[in-house]
Amino acid sequence: MSNIVLGVSGSISAYRACDLARDLMRAGHTVRVCLTDSAAKFVTPVLFETLTGNPCLTDTFEEPIRGRMAHIDWARQADLILLAPATANTLNKLAQGIGDDMLTTLILAAQVPLLIAPAMNPVMYTHPETQASIHKLQSQGAFFIEPAEGDVASGETGQGKLAPNAEIIASAESILARRQSLTGKTILITSGPTQESIDSVRFLTNRSSGKMGLAMARAAQLMGAEVILISGPTSLPDPANATTIHVRTAEQMLAAAHEQAPKADWIIGLAAVSDYRPANPSPTKIRRSEEDLTLTLVPNPDIIATLAQQNPTKRVVAFAAEPTQDPAYAVEKMHRKGVSAIALNDISNPQIGFQSDENELTLILANGKSFQSGRKSKLSCALWLLDQLSENP
Ligand SMILES: Cc1cc2nc3c(=O)[nH]c(=O)nc-3n(C[C@H](O)[C@H](O)[C@H](O)COP(=O)(O)O)c2cc1C
Repeated sequence: MSNIVLGVSGSISAYRACDLARDLMRAGHTVRVCLTDSAAKFVTPVLFETLTGNPCLTDTFEEPIRGRMAHIDWARQADLILLAPATANTLNKLAQGIGDDMLTTLILAAQVPLLIAPAMNPVMYTHPETQASIHKLQSQGAFFIEPAEGDVASGETGQGKLAPNAEIIASAESILARRQSLTGKTILITSGPTQESIDSVRFLTNRSSGKMGLAMARAAQLMGAEVILISGPTSLPDPANATTIHVRTAEQMLAAAHEQAPKADWIIGLAAVSDYRPANPSPTKIRRSEEDLTLTLVPNPDIIATLAQQNPTKRVVAFAAEPTQDPAYAVEKMHRKGVSAIALNDISNPQIGFQSDENELTLILANGKSFQSGRKSKLSCALWLLDQLSENP
């Protein structure tokens, strides 16, 4: 089955990690445990070594196999890292990219899914720094299992109890099950805004952040696909282990997509492509004057419609950012563009869509079936969408 690294940090609920390790082993997984120094004050390495039959790491310089750096070895061999319980301190360190102990160093070195189950006093959980760290880690692709509500060890009532072990194991297994579902497929994703020059310093663009495209790239990788990301200008990092091609204009995006399309099985058009571009961009800066200035705009190519037309045997999926939840516009767009499915997101809702970390999608297939994602992190939305597409070939 799978190799799971169970990271345990210094929460009062660290004792629950003992049963968690055993239950994961009963489900057929190999479990190796890494403790923080604080966790080792609640539960001991000997306990986990005896329970799992594997070495338990705490110190960054430990090397169960001499000459092999354990943080790299374990990170490479893992299929999943499960951090349960996760303290506020470890969460905040991870969000800052700190690796000052074995557990945080190992997580920094890993490229596998990370599932985090926080457990802490409700005040620590709702602290703005903790919440900001959770959002940041989610946007980087980490999965979270929310703590439960109830009485916590400090005598308060609120959200902070480590989620039930059965829920943690079910989440871990659903992440692991997805790992192979797109193996062998290459997915081409267009993402982000485009920029269309007005003059040498100004351009037309839009509010797309590229976050949904990056989440889609990460989701496709988590499901085992190869990813080619063609991205307009964003402030986001490139996804690791993907081919990323940076473009600026709609015409450049189309040229890059046209070149890459033969390698792809699926094409997902998430880019917010400028519909128009200035007809005659000035090569120098347009000077201020008291006269009115009229820009003549000409239509840009419809990238996803062109790709759908040129690749009739491939699965081509468009996104429709509409200021409404009414699917009629999206359905019309799907037929006009000739794509096999369209995902509608309602950009009139400020909680979702552009710039935000969450989204809510309606996926409509050419055969008329439609599905609702509910509001989720962009990564969860992307996983949901790829699941629906896999299940409805
Ligand atoms: C008895 C006791 C219980 C604690 N329980 C928690 C907890 O449930 N969650 C948490 O975030 N911190 C808890 N702490 C505080 C952490 O142990 C402390 O922040 C520590 O620095 C965490 O280190 P680590 O993240 O490296 O494990 C507890 C501390 C004590 C003394």
